Amino acid sequence: MKLWEGRFQKGLDKTTNDFNSSISFDSRMYAEDIQGSVAHATMLGACGIITEAEAEQICTGLEEILKDLNAGTLQIDPEAEDIHTFLEGELTARIGDAGKRLHTARSRNDQVALDVRLTLKKEAAGLISQLRELIGVLCNQAETYADAVMPGYTHLQRAQPITFGHHLMAYAEMFLRDIGRLQDAVKRMDQLPLGSCALAGTTYPIDRGMTARLLGFSGVTQNSLDGVADRDFCVELAAAISLAMVHLSRFSEEIILWCSWEFRFIELDDAFSTGSSIMPQKKNPDIAELVRGKSGRVFGDLMGLLTMLKGLPLAYNKDMQEDKEAIFDAVDTLRMCLTAFIPMVATMRVHPKTMRAAAAKGFINATDCADYLVGKGIPFRDAYKITGKLVAMCIASGETLETLPLAEYQALCPQFGPDVYDAISLETCVTGRTSEGGPAPQKVRQQIKRVQEVLNVENTD
Ligand code: ARG
Repeated sequence: MKLWEGRFQKGLDKTTNDFNSSISFDSRMYAEDIQGSVAHATMLGACGIITEAEAEQICTGLEEILKDLNAGTLQIDPEAEDIHTFLEGELTARIGDAGKRLHTARSRNDQVALDVRLTLKKEAAGLISQLRELIGVLCNQAETYADAVMPGYTHLQRAQPITFGHHLMAYAEMFLRDIGRLQDAVKRMDQLPLGSCALAGTTYPIDRGMTARLLGFSGVTQNSLDGVADRDFCVELAAAISLAMVHLSRFSEEIILWCSWEFRFIELDDAFSTGSSIMPQKKNPDIAELVRGKSGRVFGDLMGLLTMLKGLPLAYNKDMQEDKEAIFDAVDTLRMCLTAFIPMVATMRVHPKTMRAAAAKGFINATDCADYLVGKGIPFRDAYKITGKLVAMCIASGETLETLPLAEYQALCPQFGPDVYDAISLETCVTGRTSEGGPAPQKVRQQIKRVQEVLNVENTD
């Protein structure tokens, strides 16, 4: 049965029906579609557009259908055009004429816009709680390794000493911003589009405010054309998800490097690593690699959504059916990535000694050596040059700044004294970096505290 039966002489060609159908990917919105229909019918009854008795019959019928779908005693017909058609048909089959009144003052255009918004609000809340969990794990690990000195890098070259806790908290900040972006996207999708109908509203005396309240929306969309034509909220969510994937991907890249034998900064738990079918020694960071790899498909989803929308005249066009696979894929991918990633980070073993040893090489304290001379009254630019020469000398003779004899220091600059060794010790370099947001353990602990406070405040919102 097709909804447009009256106008047409014959049914849709079978292959065309499959091509046209969205049932395979919009069935997941069945609970939201029912929720929306219950609110709509309740409003229609309250406004006297259908009788209260009919409204009640519809709501009871829909709730029964929901129960049966949840229990698996009712199967969704894969031949149906979409979930809206299937549910309306099932309702009418069960309750008769009252079911045919449900679609009064409504179109599938505003219905699908509603269902997607309801679904994405729920999905975004799930992603936010997973990101919160990840940040919690990062705070715990950062607390444990707030004092663990490691090399900080620029250009992937050892640059200045930091701590592992400091490094992890950089990611905590990124994920905190991701939560903010998701919340922001949700704010704009929190408007009820129902009542826009096909595109031009309706002549029935509907109460959109009431439907919005019933469905927990904070307001209603303000233009009926925009109400059905807008998918900005999908794009915004996909963009927020894409950035979260960028952050996970960068983190994954570092994890992959860190657990290589070249670095050996961490080791992943066996439960989150894989072996090789041929090389017995291998322990591969597949999870991190997959997360890094999956970022590409999410960016593809975002690009697909933007491209799908860009040439569309107002209002609804069937092209918009393409919104769901893209945004659901983005949502599902981030959810699956986080599900695998969180326990992987929570269980990773850290090797602070290797990190420290890596920081002890590579002249990571050269800036501090120059800063030492500044403390002795030498202008920074001159101090920089002198230290550069020292580094070149060390490289030539196979020394480090820590092992270079004082006489050699003094030969280049008499202001060097025996206290230089303490000034360039890794501990001094790290604990001295107390500028706000810096790697000194005390500052890292402040960062952790602040992030935990933000999480707690958000929890009570
Ligand atoms: N399956 C459609 C979609 O996902 C529902 C809306 C259909 N509206 C229409 N006028 N054909 O967009």
